[in-house]
Amino acid sequence: MDHIRTEIRFVLNDRDVRISDVGASDTLLDFIRLQKKLTGTKEGCAEGDCGACTILVGRRSAIGLQYEAVNACIRLLASVDCCHVVTVEHVAKPGAPLHPIQQSMVDHHASQCGFCTPGIVMSLYAMWMNNPSSRDEDIESTLQGNLCRCTGYQPIIDAAKAVFDHGEPAQDPLEVERNAISARLDEMNDGRRVRVSRGSDIAILPASVDDLSEIMTENPDATLVAGSTDVGLWVTKFMRSISPAIFIAHLDELLSIDDGPDGVTLGAGVTYSQCEAMVRKKFPHLAGFWDRIGGRQVRNMGTIGGNIANGSPIGDTPPALIALDATITLRKGPERRTLPLEDYFIAYGKQDRSPGEFLESIHIPRPKPGAQNAAYKISKRRDEDISSVCGAFSLIVEDGMIASARIAFGGMAATPKRATTVENALVGKPWSEQTVRHAETCFEQDFQPISDWRASAEYRSLVARKLLRRFYLEHAEAAEAAEAVRLPRDAMSTASMS
Ligand SMILES: Cc1cc2nc3c(=O)[nH]c(=O)nc-3n(C[C@H](O)[C@H](O)[C@H](O)COP(=O)(O)OP(=O)(O)OC[C@H]3O[C@@H](n4cnc5c(N)ncnc54)[C@H](O)[C@@H]3O)c2cc1C
Ligand code: FES
Ligand code: FES
Repeated sequence: MDHIRTEIRFVLNDRDVRISDVGASDTLLDFIRLQKKLTGTKEGCAEGDCGACTILVGRRSAIGLQYEAVNACIRLLASVDCCHVVTVEHVAKPGAPLHPIQQSMVDHHASQCGFCTPGIVMSLYAMWMNNPSSRDEDIESTLQGNLCRCTGYQPIIDAAKAVFDHGEPAQDPLEVERNAISARLDEMNDGRRVRVSRGSDIAILPASVDDLSEIMTENPDATLVAGSTDVGLWVTKFMRSISPAIFIAHLDELLSIDDGPDGVTLGAGVTYSQCEAMVRKKFPHLAGFWDRIGGRQVRNMGTIGGNIANGSPIGDTPPALIALDATITLRKGPERRTLPLEDYFIAYGKQDRSPGEFLESIHIPRPKPGAQNAAYKISKRRDEDISSVCGAFSLIVEDGMIASARIAFGGMAATPKRATTVENALVGKPWSEQTVRHAETCFEQDFQPISDWRASAEYRSLVARKLLRRFYLEHAEAAEAAEAVRLPRDAMSTASMS
């Protein structure tokens, strides 16, 4: 059938690659190292944590070819169709001078055993190209997903700071060749559905969302693969078969970010990185929270749709979005239905999604004027760790009385869940220490958390209570401070009126 292409095509460093012998579960790292013998890219953890396997993937977008650092260990090979894959071997040719980043790493003694170094070079490479005015916090955020057991990080941070002394990104070969590579990728992309396989291990890349919905109807139990930051681990850690797998991260229609009058609608395939700027602008209370989801590489691949769809009780975005009253739209064939996000989670491992149905978009209403919002993540490590408890709050206080409250938690139940008893204990009451003290006692009616290796049940319950207290102290104090600033002016206007 000529509406189906039976090979995936991409550019690897400077070479075109066309292969049809690709299984759904083939990882990009295995392809690079085992088939192409490009062994500069290392394998440490094989689960997206250590960053030793970091490479760049350039993908076509409305604003041109965008290069991002990703974890090759959990990136599945079929997903790089019509992309530019750049490994550390491409950073400086043999015999040529070192790349500015490599030179800076040498100058600052930022490598010891060297196992992490190629991954760190690639992460810094992406930062250098995409954000030439990097500040200290950008460097920290860039390196969140790169573990080094030897250097103690200071030399690496020094190297990152000094890299701009060694050269300009504009002169970099990747920049200079960006248009030419883009044209090669455009030529590869014939807009057809792709179907490749190795034996019975089948990967399908739909041509469009309509095509996706047709394929899902034909294969209702297929595994959907977006960023593969969860699915990749099913392959590398649990050796699970994911065939047939339907890859969706390339579908432009799932990548839209629509900022409308009543809120923001995100395509289910939008990654954390792609909506980072929007989050900072429209939901500033989530900016710090966003930075603590995975590391940079995971945020470059992982999607909000995937975070919701997998139904994990410890996913970070569901509590934050439930508190903001988000809704989701699911599609099956031509039919769509929209439901409150909280209703999607039925029980542990059970979501309101029927075979053949997929998540198409997420709508986050614009916060109401005067709403006080916060989201807190409590985990063992600050960076790149899964939440032990995640709590999100959205309150409206009018004339000192709580007019509405939405509170949602992750890590406290078998699903992300609202604390409705706590909410009821707050609404209609004064926004006061006394109200909060009483509401804290209601958590045990909403949640009976379990003990596991992340946290004990007692710890989780205590944290939930303390997060409500923290929310109160942060926001009530801010309100008092605002009141104190306002008072003299109010007093003056009262005086002038009398
Ligand atoms: C190192 C590391 C750190 C992490 N840190 C965090 C963290 O701090 N916080 C956190 O919450 N998560 C974290 N995760 C988990 C993961 O990154 C997120 O859950 C991510 O959002 C998953 O998105 P994805 O696109 O990669 O999903 P995938 O892995 O592609 O898919 C996940 C699930 O969703 C399904 N799916 C995907 N898209 C759709 C769709 N449109 N419709 C229906 N089903 C769909 C898939 O079939 C699968 O069941 C981490 C993962 C790693 C590897
Ligand atoms: S090998 Fe550790 S993140 Fe890939
Ligand atoms: S230099 Fe040894 S792990 Fe980083």
